[in-house]
Amino acid sequence: MISFADRIQTLGTENAFKLGDDIARCEQAGTKVIRLNLGEPDFDSAENINKVAIENIKNGNTHYTNPQGILPLRESIARQICQTRGVRVNPNQIVVTTGGKPSIAYTMMAYVNPGDEVIYPSPGFPIYESWVTFLGAVPVPLHLEEDKGFRFDAADLEKLISPKTKVFILNSPSNPTGGVLSRADLEGIARVVKGKANPNIRIYSDEIYEYILFDGHQHQSILSIPGMAGHTILASGHSKTYAMTGWRLGYSVLPTVEEAMVFRQMNINIISCTPPFIQEAGRAAIDNKENQKIVQAMVKQFENRRDMVVEGLNQIEGIHCNKPDGAFYVFPNISMVCEALGVLAAYEQLSDEKKQRTSPSTLFQMFALYHHGVATLDRRSFGSIGSEGKHYLRLSTATDMESLKEGIRRIEMASKDVEGFHIYINKGKYLF
Ligand SMILES: Cc1ncc(COP(=O)(O)O)c(C=O)c1O
Repeated sequence: MISFADRIQTLGTENAFKLGDDIARCEQAGTKVIRLNLGEPDFDSAENINKVAIENIKNGNTHYTNPQGILPLRESIARQICQTRGVRVNPNQIVVTTGGKPSIAYTMMAYVNPGDEVIYPSPGFPIYESWVTFLGAVPVPLHLEEDKGFRFDAADLEKLISPKTKVFILNSPSNPTGGVLSRADLEGIARVVKGKANPNIRIYSDEIYEYILFDGHQHQSILSIPGMAGHTILASGHSKTYAMTGWRLGYSVLPTVEEAMVFRQMNINIISCTPPFIQEAGRAAIDNKENQKIVQAMVKQFENRRDMVVEGLNQIEGIHCNKPDGAFYVFPNISMVCEALGVLAAYEQLSDEKKQRTSPSTLFQMFALYHHGVATLDRRSFGSIGSEGKHYLRLSTATDMESLKEGIRRIEMASKDVEGFHIYINKGKYLF
């Protein structure tokens, strides 16, 4: 028997990756699965960016480098932050990481003691809740409601802030809802933070979808709100904006150089550094103006797909889908489908042990995958604490139109397949 440390029990996961095994199983059985589960642009990184990396590798720029990130990249990021947020930052406040994800862990490890409270959006990126529970902190989910367009206001936040709140996580545009906070929302949040929070609070502002906005929306950042720069850890990266998910390049901007040194030390302990040729390519992504057009064209496609998908889903009986303002996800409400298909009743019949590990939207998600060949994600995959009684799916629209149309057709078939659902539930396989 393997003797793992106790803490490993509390580590969560990201089901978008975990579902890969189920998809592989379906495909081995002969089903071509439509994949609407993974959040990554279906575009490749731009040729001008690729070239820089290849040239750097050829020229031998393949060694260890500054653990904080190469200075020219940090200077480019600092310039971009100044242009987009109107805030001057010293490149020494910036730490480059392998993707946007590490800085979530670094923030939790650097600021949060066991018993401290962390407020985070739910539904939200699952890695937030994972790290909060892993470190023995107190999870305080800030529930985003559909009838408020999955946004929240200052009053919702005020109720949750206590003297023990150490970190508050913001994510706009949001994964999984596509909700976008306005300048007025952020000003309200800032008032509450100033008025009620512990003066040492840190706001982790995850802005990784900052360029993926629709209908002329402009990105708003809490960093730009007067008085907030001293509290804010701004996190972003290249994965979504420049379709560079597999490159693993991200960064955070810390309130002080002293705090950046702690993140640098985290890098030293865990990754040593981000590969230098990737950082050079990342600098080109920001500095080469050609990429602005490439990004705009990609965003336009995401917008067209959003329009088609939202319309298609709303035509399915029992599904209601809000129109997101940003990111590349939609988050339809499937409560009525769960009712009509007998999913809610089937869930109630499960043993307590099984109920703990699944949910009605999980059952629908797994049924849609195994019986109809369409991969989506359930509500529980975006923060399980307090998710009971909420029946949603997340679909990624970062795939081509034809696949999206076919995906919607399969979801519709699944939503009407009462007999198929009974067969699935009676078999009792793949319930979570
Ligand atoms: C909100 C959010 N933050 C962070 C990340 C992590 O991005 P990366 O792939 O750069 O680590 C993701 C990726 O899906 C995300 O959706």
